[in-house]
Amino acid sequence: MQRRKFIQLSGVSTGSLITSGSLAGFFMAGSGCRKEHHNGLMTKPVMVIENDFSQMLTNPLQSGANQTLTAQTTTVNIRGANIPVLGYQPNGMLGPSFRVNKGDVVNILLQNNLSEHTNIHWHGLKVPALMDGHPDQLANAGGTFRYQFTVNQRAGLTWYHPHPHFKTGKQVFQGLAGLFIINDLEEATLNLPSGRFEIPLVIQDKRLTNQGITYNPTAEEVMSGYMGESVLVNGIYSPYTEVSTRYYRLRILNGSNARLYNLAFSNNADMIIIGNDGGLLKNPVTVKEILLAPGERLDVLVNFNGLSIGTELFLLSKEFANGGDAQGKQSFKIMKFKVTATVTDSFTVPTKLSMVDSLPASSSVRSRVFDISNPMEHHGYPMNDGMRMRHRINNKLFDSSRIDESIKSNTNEIWVFDNSKGDEPHPMHLHGVFFQVLQRTGGRGSLIVSETGWKDTVLVMPGETVQIIIPFESNLGKFVFHCHNLEHEDDGMMLQYELI
Ligand code: C2O
Ligand code: CU
Ligand code: CU
Repeated sequence: MQRRKFIQLSGVSTGSLITSGSLAGFFMAGSGCRKEHHNGLMTKPVMVIENDFSQMLTNPLQSGANQTLTAQTTTVNIRGANIPVLGYQPNGMLGPSFRVNKGDVVNILLQNNLSEHTNIHWHGLKVPALMDGHPDQLANAGGTFRYQFTVNQRAGLTWYHPHPHFKTGKQVFQGLAGLFIINDLEEATLNLPSGRFEIPLVIQDKRLTNQGITYNPTAEEVMSGYMGESVLVNGIYSPYTEVSTRYYRLRILNGSNARLYNLAFSNNADMIIIGNDGGLLKNPVTVKEILLAPGERLDVLVNFNGLSIGTELFLLSKEFANGGDAQGKQSFKIMKFKVTATVTDSFTVPTKLSMVDSLPASSSVRSRVFDISNPMEHHGYPMNDGMRMRHRINNKLFDSSRIDESIKSNTNEIWVFDNSKGDEPHPMHLHGVFFQVLQRTGGRGSLIVSETGWKDTVLVMPGETVQIIIPFESNLGKFVFHCHNLEHEDDGMMLQYELI
């Protein structure tokens, strides 16, 4: 939303309160309005509060994906208190981290022990429409849903989370999500660090209280997205891990509702990016920092060689520019690495990782443009929904009974996400496909190194327009695409395409 514009239009200045008159009536039209909604709708950053990095990181990878996931309220011990969270297993938030081979059959029964409906979307897995966790395909409270499909895609890090419309943000924030790693032969020939040298990191910010993880976004927080003051990794608050003087492979997911992380190491170590959402890149690329939006994944090699025993270093999120009013204003620590053993390491980073054929723009049979700027006015009228703005795509809110785009199977299309007039970051995600990013204009003005290869989520920062090319194959049916800021998504920033 263009809040500044909105403030001008409405004549509200920051900090002033409307208490009477026609403007107040205008804004008070919705029910449940509270004062803070009228304060110019300025969004503010939620500052991260670091803790002592004293809890050991864990994350057992489980082979195979044949089991029951029971969505339930459970408790975890955080800072010495047992607090209620949501999980897919009896103790702790998050679900198991599955590891399967390409070609494996997945058979997972979702048992819904919540008091509301839920479902599972396999984010980054190409599964049939009826298995994709579409917001229409739900397990009711007390009910079940069986997910069965064959993993037919290259190695990569994918994840799973609930997708019931209006409730995705809350269920994910309170603990429902998990990793799903695919291995294949191409990846195996690279002999990448594995076993305890391959560490999955699910980074999520939460609001922790002794009553649990609070989720009650205000109108401003629907605009900025809901953020927390506590950063958890793999469901563990302020964790550390012990490492040896060698290469590690970090499999990183930004599983946050809204927060972007500009990842870097406190000792300025190289981050060697070898993969992203859709698996390995063609070649490794070395950076000192990299921005990761909700829904996006990174496959990173880092070398602790040369550090002496006892060294402590941190994975950080550094400040970054152009994140709107609420993001990028603070540098904070995410987790600690403690060097505890000296080893010899013969690993060398391969210069070639994988085959990725670039799709030429000329192979596209059709382009579609999506306005994601969410302008505050339309033909001179404020785009107000009673009390506040809503997040839309092409001026439309999600409606599961409407097909927004109908697409011919086995064709390539160019889609354009236009945030040129917007002032909020929008990580745009498509179900059912992987795409390549062709171009970015405005804002950062070019692709970042992790945007080569295959993607399923692309960050469109304020002022940016991003062009992607999508090979639609033959996975027919109805799929959604949306902003992966989960408050924006729940607010309606989601449409449907049907592959016919
Ligand atoms: Cu990870 Cu439709 O979402
Ligand atoms: Cu998805
Ligand atoms: Cu958004």
